[in-house]
Amino acid sequence: MQVTLPALHEKYERGEPLVMVTAYDFPGARAAEAAGVDLVLVGDSGAEMVLGYPSTVGVSTEEMLMLTAAVRRGLHDPFLIADLPFGSYEASDEQAVLTAARFVREAGAQAVKLERGNATSVARARAIVQAGILVMGHVGLTPQSATALGGNRAQGRSGAAATRIAQEALALQEAGCFAIVLEAIPAAVTEELVRLLTIPTIGIGAGPATAGQVLVLHDLLGIREGTGARFVRSYANLGPEMITALAAYADDVRERRYPAAEHCYTIDPSELAEFRTALGRP
Ligand code: KIV
Repeated sequence: MQVTLPALHEKYERGEPLVMVTAYDFPGARAAEAAGVDLVLVGDSGAEMVLGYPSTVGVSTEEMLMLTAAVRRGLHDPFLIADLPFGSYEASDEQAVLTAARFVREAGAQAVKLERGNATSVARARAIVQAGILVMGHVGLTPQSATALGGNRAQGRSGAAATRIAQEALALQEAGCFAIVLEAIPAAVTEELVRLLTIPTIGIGAGPATAGQVLVLHDLLGIREGTGARFVRSYANLGPEMITALAAYADDVRERRYPAAEHCYTIDPSELAEFRTALGRP
C-alpha cells in the first residue's frame, strides 16, 4: 500500500517508529521497497556516496534530479522525498519554489527537504509549502553548512546551541514543514525537542526519542571508505564483498575460467557451416 502523508501521521500518532533510508538509484529504491521502509530520501549525501564529491555542496540540481528520477522508477509504496541541493533554494523564495517544483514535476518526488532553520531557510520552507509542496526541515548538523559549523560534528552541545536548534525547529514547524530531521545532537536535547514539536521528527545521530530514524544507505550496507560517524550502525559489510567478487571475476578472466560453456550461446552446426563457407573457410 502506498505510504501517504495521512498514513505517516497515523503511524506517528500511534507511536509507531517511522523508518527512513536514503537511496540514489533504481536498485537502491527496489531494495528499500522490498524491505518495506516508510520513507525514502534522495539525500544530497548522494554527492559523496555515489558521485564521488568530497562534500554535499558540489552536487547540482540536474544531478539530484537524475538520482531522484531513478529512485522514483524503482519505488511504489514508500514516501519519496528529495533533498534540495546547496545553492538551489537560498537566493529567493521564487528560486526555492521553482527548484522544488522541478523535483515534484520532473522527478516524481512527493516532498522536498531543505537544510537549516535560519530566517532564510524558514522563509523558503514557507514559500514552498504555500506553493503546495510538502517540505521536510533539517536542523542540528546540516552538512551543506558544515564549514560554518566547524566540520561534520555534533551540534547543540551547549545550552545556547540547543536553544537555537529548538528555535529553528519551531520556526520550521510554524512555516508548515510536515516533519523535521534532527541530525547529530545529544539524545537528551532530542527528548526536549520531541516534547516541544507537534510534527514528526526523524533522527540521525539524535538518539532514540525521535518519531523515526534515517540512515544513509551506503553506511547501513557497509559500502564506504573509512569509518562512518559515531551514530552509524552497519547492517552488512558489502564494500569488501564487492571487492572480493570483482577480484574473483578478474582472476577467472585472466585464468580463462570465465566464460564457461554454460555462459555461451550455441548455433546450429548447419548454420555454422554456412557461415564458414560464406567466410571462405574450409
Ligand atoms: O543527505 C542526506 O542523506 C541527509 C540525511 C542524513 C538526513 O540529509
